[in-house]
Amino acid sequence: MKKITLVAMFSLAAAFSVSTQASERIGDFTLIDNTGKSHQLSKYAYNKALVIISQATGCTTNQENIARYKQLRTNWDHRGVSFVMLNSDASDDRAGIRAEEAVWQYDFPILDDETQLVAESLGVSYAGQVIVVDPVRMNVIYRGPLPAQPANAPLGQVLTAIVADGADSREMETVTVAEEAAVESCALPFPARDANMADVPDYETVIAPILIERCVGCHVEGGIGPFAMNSHMMIQGWSPMIREVIMTARMPPMQIDPTVREWVNSGNISVEERQKLIHWITAGSPRD
Ligand code: HEC
Repeated sequence: MKKITLVAMFSLAAAFSVSTQASERIGDFTLIDNTGKSHQLSKYAYNKALVIISQATGCTTNQENIARYKQLRTNWDHRGVSFVMLNSDASDDRAGIRAEEAVWQYDFPILDDETQLVAESLGVSYAGQVIVVDPVRMNVIYRGPLPAQPANAPLGQVLTAIVADGADSREMETVTVAEEAAVESCALPFPARDANMADVPDYETVIAPILIERCVGCHVEGGIGPFAMNSHMMIQGWSPMIREVIMTARMPPMQIDPTVREWVNSGNISVEERQKLIHWITAGSPRD
């Protein structure tokens, strides 16, 4: 890993540390935005880059930068770059996100990452952070603040590189610009991840009951699901696919946005259940 420290170049007297490493691949995901519209990362593949602005209700960094976010979009959206905001604050809900939008008029789709699992996969650690993803190759290529002069700073360099003809993010690096301190109102705690990583959900008493409740009705010998979840080995082997279908909301089938209407027997799997399942898979789908 190369490490360069750029001091006081971008704003005030803040010191930024820029590091690069082989580009990080992420999985596909689907989230619903503040208007109820669904967004899937892979469906942005008609464009060359997706800029994801981490947002939280009450985050002053977001509120102060609205004009600059819009300027960034004006500069890049005709060059193959899409823009969304991502709300991964565990203490925000859809109503709160809509209320914030009504006051501040961000005018970007605000994706509701209620499980925080997308933020975790993108490496988001505070609101106001900007992430650039190649939606074709699914690589993160920039993670850092919105620089004062985006054109010359690492963010602008990364966008210039990815929109170039023939650009391939597999040959690029992930540029991470670490700030010394995030603003207090933009801090993003990850309580579920911290708890589940410190004490990995138990297969027998936590994970198996979730699968039995949500999946095994179909994923059983002779069931309509293509494989039976009938042993730890089977579930461990299918774990990468299980992660993908949970992150893209494909399974359980027939999910209905619970903020629109609550249905009995709808396929919804709770926030906590999804977190437990994904964190267990991240820990290697252990038996005990
Ligand atoms: C209502 C029945 C039903 C339920 C409930 C269900 N599945 Fe499925 N599952 C299917 C069917 C049918 C398929 C094959 C068609 C498809 O891939 O959409 C499938 C496919 C899959 C696949 C393979 C996808 C692929 O592309 O190969 C995975 C992994 C999976 N399900 C995981 C789960 C998990 C995890 C749950 C519980 C959270 C679950 N399923 C709940 C019916 C179900």
